[in-house]
Amino acid sequence: MDQSRLPLVKALEQYIGENALRQHMPGHKGGLGAPQPAQDLLGVKLWQADVTEIAGLDDLQEPEGCIAEAQSLLADLYGAAASFFLINGSSVGIAALLLACLQPGDEILVPRNAHRAVLSGLILSGAKPIFVQVRQDEPSSMPLGLDAADFLQAVKKHPQAKAAFFVSPTYQGVTGDLAALIRICRTHGLLALVDEAHGVHFPWLPDGSLPTALLCGADACVQSAHKLAGSLTQSSWLHVGQDSALDVGRLKSALQWLQSSSPSYLLMASLDAARWQLAQEGKKRLRQLWEQAEQLRRRWQALAGVDIVGGVAGTLAAPFQMDITKITLAVRGWSGHAAAAQLRRQGIAVEWADETRLLLLLSLADVEQDWERLGQGLPQLLQLPAPGYFSKETMALPPVPPQRMTPREAALTDYRSVLLQEAQGLIAGEAITPYPPGIPLVLPGEELTAEVLAWITACKRQGQHMSGMADTTLETIRVVWK
Ligand SMILES: Cc1ncc(COP(=O)(O)O)c(C=O)c1O
Repeated sequence: MDQSRLPLVKALEQYIGENALRQHMPGHKGGLGAPQPAQDLLGVKLWQADVTEIAGLDDLQEPEGCIAEAQSLLADLYGAAASFFLINGSSVGIAALLLACLQPGDEILVPRNAHRAVLSGLILSGAKPIFVQVRQDEPSSMPLGLDAADFLQAVKKHPQAKAAFFVSPTYQGVTGDLAALIRICRTHGLLALVDEAHGVHFPWLPDGSLPTALLCGADACVQSAHKLAGSLTQSSWLHVGQDSALDVGRLKSALQWLQSSSPSYLLMASLDAARWQLAQEGKKRLRQLWEQAEQLRRRWQALAGVDIVGGVAGTLAAPFQMDITKITLAVRGWSGHAAAAQLRRQGIAVEWADETRLLLLLSLADVEQDWERLGQGLPQLLQLPAPGYFSKETMALPPVPPQRMTPREAALTDYRSVLLQEAQGLIAGEAITPYPPGIPLVLPGEELTAEVLAWITACKRQGQHMSGMADTTLETIRVVWK
């Protein structure tokens, strides 16, 4: 297909050019009724492009025109059997996939480092997750991912499972032997669904650097174009693999159930343009980015007191490896939070920090003039007196607690709030998740063990931002009560 085409962007441009009297939604009518502070912030063009499904602009739910063409171009670019635009991030794609593939009580194998987005799919479908613990890096304790032998053992223990869910790469950019994991799925008749939220750019990395879900034979995957490509926040896409055993009709229905009937054309046009950008410039930009990332890692790794997870080349214990454009590091004498705050004072805002480490993302947006400024960031910080922090590793995951009910049963039944210190042995009625990275410590339906409660208390003490619970002070927790 002609990847230089921009069907959705052009259709929008054409409509704006008509200068029609907009006797249709949205009510701001091309910005005429937009509140002034919002116009000042966002500019005229944004309001003009914020339109809805009128003649010529197609319909996301039943696409036949410019959206259908934009999605076909996307599928063609990635080699997918079909691709779908998502206007509520990869989160909605993950929920739709589980809803399309699973019925209440069906088992799905899920790595314990799965993002909390999987919980919506579990609650909606009523499926029973079989959590498999993931390997962790030594000594950083960073979650790596599923080991194929551990996964095979879990598959054999649960022969009735219908599907497996994989996270590749992780939030910190770690990939494992995805091809081996998917081969196991094929041999045992499991659908392979991949959360590739952080891997939208992988096909353009220098040859075969990191595995991609579609080339490894996944039935479907989701990718957050907004995370590491050029589209607007909240815009993602979902691909169905060639030879996928997934019921695409059911997937379409699930997407219709979950997505808005008034999808944002700003988000969709940005997806169309992000696909165009990757097709036109992805190879060049990503190759440059990879080289720059290597140089930056080398420069920082050479600094006394800086420890980059995976070193210069992103090397981890086999079969795990890293996307080197994500830099997770620790600075001796500095907590991750303190180092992040200092970098912010120096004009560098990071993606994430915890007690020990911080994470910086590089992407195709980073241009040459930024590299020197970024490269100086850590040397400048190191000239300051260190606050004197001694590392306490915090990226580890607690052991998987026993599951007493499915997430759906636990989330939709009666509950009570009890004091955290009195919750041991009760069943969680809500998920508790340090955010980011968004990996739940406990999910609804799981027993609140002493270990999990100690983990929650530690996260609270460290001032980690937590989400998912009704009581944001975490004095109390919701438990199942019936
Ligand atoms: C591993 C992983 N999966 C899924 C998601 C959800 O993606 P989105 O923000 O596009 O909904 C995230 C979000 O951070 C994530 O880190």
